[in-house]
Amino acid sequence: MTIEDVFTLIKGDMERVNNLIQTSLYSEVVLINQISQYIINSGGKRLRPVLVLLSANAFMKTEEAKEAHITLAAVIEFIHTATLLHDDVVDESELRRGKDTANELFGNAASVLVGDFLYSRAFEMMVGVGNMKVMEILSHSTNTIAEGEVLQLLNCNDASTTEARYLEVIHFKTAKLFESASQLGAVVMKQDDKTEQAMANYGMHLGTAFQLIDDVLDYSASSEDMGKNVGDDLAEGKPTLPLIYAMLHGTPEQAALIKEAIEQGGLDQIEEITQAIEVTGALDYTRKIARNEAELAIKQLENIPDSDYKNAMVTLANFSVDRKY
Ligand code: IPE
Ligand code: IPE
Ligand code: MG
Ligand code: MG
Repeated sequence: MTIEDVFTLIKGDMERVNNLIQTSLYSEVVLINQISQYIINSGGKRLRPVLVLLSANAFMKTEEAKEAHITLAAVIEFIHTATLLHDDVVDESELRRGKDTANELFGNAASVLVGDFLYSRAFEMMVGVGNMKVMEILSHSTNTIAEGEVLQLLNCNDASTTEARYLEVIHFKTAKLFESASQLGAVVMKQDDKTEQAMANYGMHLGTAFQLIDDVLDYSASSEDMGKNVGDDLAEGKPTLPLIYAMLHGTPEQAALIKEAIEQGGLDQIEEITQAIEVTGALDYTRKIARNEAELAIKQLENIPDSDYKNAMVTLANFSVDRKY
């Protein structure tokens, strides 16, 4: 199964999710509509909603009309989009999804405030589902993402950041929402605790792999493929795994260069640093860790009943590592 097949498999559900996204964006405040429409229709991959839909469908017994997984898929995309609006302000990023970021076009204040609108709209929709466990999962997840972003802020420009501290950040800021997305499918289909936990673990490992590769792409992809500017992480002095590894395994000169880049930020030395990352095998190492996470994700599916949806979840785990965008 290819990633395109995955999208074909859930096409009907995804249309319902996209319709709900459009109607739920509505606000009397024109600027909110303008910015939220801009970001939400700018071509995101919709991977987190895909996870909710696959997980729910893997456990759906009848064809009776079910609504909760559609709503929750939209809720998860709203939460994700809110984090991106805030993240691009914090990271001072200018390009996302191949377009100007909202902060670049509309300014920081408007981006932060519309991010808040999307968060709170997501919570209104989630309350509508009327399931306490769903609210527990999503409120905790949102809180964890915020912790992850703040933890990362503390690591920024800190060259003593270890691989363990980096992994903690990516679990919080990224993997948690993937975890919640796949867990929620099992929750709304009323699966037992063991199944629910397996789905949560699946999403957590997949999300970890996804962010590891995101950090590889920041040094190896093209801006055209990625839709984001290459070198954004270096510009910020963000100690991601490729930099941490290259600093530990490079020559003393390379280590000093990378230490300086983390502490000062900026793109002045990007060529030398990219070269150090390449020759030390830092990207291969990071890809290897990501591959291992994807395998762990796939292993969680062992006891899930066989179906096209389960196959699609395997494809998604592989895509998170093999992707170029
Ligand atoms: C971007 O996520 C933020 C990260 C966690 C790396 P995606 O790559 O899923 O973003 P879109 O929604 O497809 O643009
Ligand atoms: C993404 O962080 C995680 C969240 C948005 C919470 P990054 O800063 O690493 O992601 P990109 O590269 O801007 O998409
Ligand atoms: Mg960013
Ligand atoms: Mg960031």
